[in-house]
Amino acid sequence: MLPPSILPADSRPVIAFHGVTKKFPGVVALSGVTFDVRQGEFYSICGENGAGKSTLMKILSGVITDYDGSLTVRGEEVRFRGTRDAEAAGISIIHQELNLVEQLSAAANIFLGRELRGRLGFRDDAAMQREAAHWFAQLECDVDPRCPVHRLRVGDQQLVEIAKALSLRSDILIMDEPTSALTESEVARLFRVIDRLRTAGVTILYISHKMDEVFRLSDRILVLRDGQVVNVERREETTPSRVTHQMVGREIETVAREVDSHPPGAPVLEVRNLSLRRRGHARRWRLEQVSFTLRRGEILGIAGLMGAGRTELLECLFGASEEPPAGEIWLDGRRVHFAHPSEAKQAGIALVTEDRKRLGLFAHMSVKENMTLCHLPQAMPLGFIQGRKEQALAAELTTQLGVKTASTAAPITSLSGGNQQKCIIGRWLLTSPQVLLLDDPTRGIDVGAKAELYRLIDDLCRDGLAILLTSSELPELLTVCDRILVLSEGRLTAEFSRAEATEERILEAAMR
Ligand SMILES: Nc1ncnc2c1ncn2[C@@H]1O[C@H](COP(=O)(O)OP(=O)(O)OP(=O)(O)O)[C@@H](O)[C@H]1O
Ligand SMILES: [Mg+2]
Repeated sequence: MLPPSILPADSRPVIAFHGVTKKFPGVVALSGVTFDVRQGEFYSICGENGAGKSTLMKILSGVITDYDGSLTVRGEEVRFRGTRDAEAAGISIIHQELNLVEQLSAAANIFLGRELRGRLGFRDDAAMQREAAHWFAQLECDVDPRCPVHRLRVGDQQLVEIAKALSLRSDILIMDEPTSALTESEVARLFRVIDRLRTAGVTILYISHKMDEVFRLSDRILVLRDGQVVNVERREETTPSRVTHQMVGREIETVAREVDSHPPGAPVLEVRNLSLRRRGHARRWRLEQVSFTLRRGEILGIAGLMGAGRTELLECLFGASEEPPAGEIWLDGRRVHFAHPSEAKQAGIALVTEDRKRLGLFAHMSVKENMTLCHLPQAMPLGFIQGRKEQALAAELTTQLGVKTASTAAPITSLSGGNQQKCIIGRWLLTSPQVLLLDDPTRGIDVGAKAELYRLIDDLCRDGLAILLTSSELPELLTVCDRILVLSEGRLTAEFSRAEATEERILEAAMR
């Protein structure tokens, strides 16, 4: 049962957009957007990748200052000149792309630019750490306030970003895909915080591609398509499939892969007794005695809770682990040792990471360069036509993956979050790998694009590619994988064929 809407009937608009239009070179990101949000409301904004959701929220939070149309906050027309103005008006934002300074501690990030000072005017680190710890406790997580952000995993970084927004104690809070890197239990904790904020009367604008989140809490749901408002409806008047339909303007069918449509071929990757030590511990393991075989044409899923070792496993196979793993990895019948990702790549293994900003994207490069980056060595001998070839490859991939961009020469940073993710997937497909490792690849990708991606993955497997896939969403594993392995605290606790696998069985094995 969904909780009822708790919005008082007489609440008044606290935010109003009127005819807001935002153009970027070659793209109209928003076009005449008009809507209002009422005091204390939980207001969700849905739309495909590139629909304009983040742009809209960047205007409200003072990140984007140059736009047409008007914005009213608490009845007064405002024109923010920067994020400080928005904060002063009681508006804070949890950004989709994490906005943290990697070298600074979690606490220093939370108080960046508004450091707490002692009586003599010196920075009071202890006070900031205490306050940070308070917000982490609210989020029921144990992030160490002193830990430098680059040492935190993505999910914890996202929690720092959330703590930062909460610490401003704003009464208007924007959440732009706050849960994309969180595990299910972390999401549940965040929702408990959201419930408390709502009871305290905080207005929340919420963006997510996950319909269950949108439908759990929203008072109203706005659907954006190509920068325009398609519809605003009260939650109880609409349904997830109706919203999805409005988002994409067509019916989406997720085609589950047919069992035995293409029986897997010969083993391509064999892992025997793979173990990875926990740093600084002689006998504690991140991975312990993991063995499995991956066959050509097969999609093998890896399920597990946070910290189970999913990412570590993929990193070992890609030569990207902190220290070399023990055990054996066989590729195509040959024993391999990868000291570096470049060696794994050379051998035909590709990895799409969960953390696109840190490990995947080259922010100063174009869409085309980001896609063809790893492909270049092969293109080299044809030096003079390389430019055109690169262009053609990038153009083909953008169409195939449905990347929304003004041109392949546009800077990658001008793309919406989900479209950036598609570019990274494209980059690795171009290397024509034998084995593709996908670490939560559909994070932040909209429903339509997900269906496209599944179809593409399926086609590639028919051509003999072998895929190892992790996902934070179990239904995703259940629709695409031939087999699912379950990791719990670094050990394999179960293996299911697609026919045997159910959410309950997987969860039970993941908690063993
Ligand atoms: N700085 C920029 N320069 C040029 N174009 C931009 C810039 N920021 C956004 N855009 C374009 O504006 C459009 C809307 O992008 P926006 O980030 O708002 O999408 P979104 O709805 O948040 O998508 P996603 O679900 O992928 O996060 C996209 O076509 C994007 O390429
Ligand atoms: Mg966005």
